[in-house]
Amino acid sequence: MAIVVSLINMKGGVGKTTVASQLAHAADADDLRVLAIDLDPQSNLSQSILGPQEYVNHLSGNEPTVVQVLEDYVPAVGKEGAPTPVDVNDVIMKSVGYRSDSGLDLIPSRLELSRTLRNPTGKERRLAKALAQIQRNYDLVLIDCAPTESILTDAAYFASKFIIVPIKPEFMATIGLPLLERSLREFRLENEDHELHIAGLVLNDQSEYASNNEKVNARRDIRQIATENDWRIFQYEMPYSRSYAQASRKGLPLARTPYAKAERVNGFDRLKNEIFNAIGVRS
Ligand SMILES: Nc1ncnc2c1ncn2[C@@H]1O[C@H](COP(=O)(O)OP(=O)(O)O)[C@@H](O)[C@H]1O
Ligand SMILES: [Mg+2]
Repeated sequence: MAIVVSLINMKGGVGKTTVASQLAHAADADDLRVLAIDLDPQSNLSQSILGPQEYVNHLSGNEPTVVQVLEDYVPAVGKEGAPTPVDVNDVIMKSVGYRSDSGLDLIPSRLELSRTLRNPTGKERRLAKALAQIQRNYDLVLIDCAPTESILTDAAYFASKFIIVPIKPEFMATIGLPLLERSLREFRLENEDHELHIAGLVLNDQSEYASNNEKVNARRDIRQIATENDWRIFQYEMPYSRSYAQASRKGLPLARTPYAKAERVNGFDRLKNEIFNAIGVRS
């Protein structure tokens, strides 16, 4: 049975999508069966796994996306057809990793996912329901989330056992943490039977410009909140590196980007091992 992990921080631009896509590629390279789910209307994970061109092709072919999983039907095609119930298997793009025999699958997103938010009633459990049908086909499921709290956050909570929180050590770093803590507390109160843990925080030092002083202060604040809540901080800290953006633009794992330093590649591998140990994935 797959272990399901969501990447969440109620703050944007902290590395949720970068960690999700790099973890997905790393798990794929370890020959695990991985399903990446893009639950952000901005669709950055879809773009960074498929590469921008293939993503555009997918959209223009009107192929199904995670929108159909939450809406629970596939829209009618042409005048005659009627909407049909969705089969989650039809929404999954198979073997989208960089190797031809890749074990990485993807449920992509599209901007229209934001419309789901206008009429959210009853939709928060649909992702979990869909996953229950396919969970035995995978070792790991990674869900990339949008920063604002919505029905999509609840959908991720219901579907997941673990949460990983990427965070930037810079000014206002901790702004999303109390929001996440409260959101989780409320969710747990209402759903006592659902097991959901913070697996840990990933420090992602993606800012080239923040002063050292600012980074030191931010790390102190992050540590304090983590200690208060009994949250682990993973030991490996992702350094600033252009290779992460490069990898996203090309739909590649870090190790496959030109000029990626061995130190960065090995570093991310260590982070992957720490995370897999924390959530009990064997590679
Ligand atoms: N360690 C890093 N070094 C350099 N750039 C990074 C790093 N981590 C993320 N980025 C870049 O920062 C931007 C925001 O990261 P992203 O993963 O999209 O954040 P989020 O999903 O939390 O909004 C992206 O352009 C990404 O390529
Ligand atoms: Mg993102």
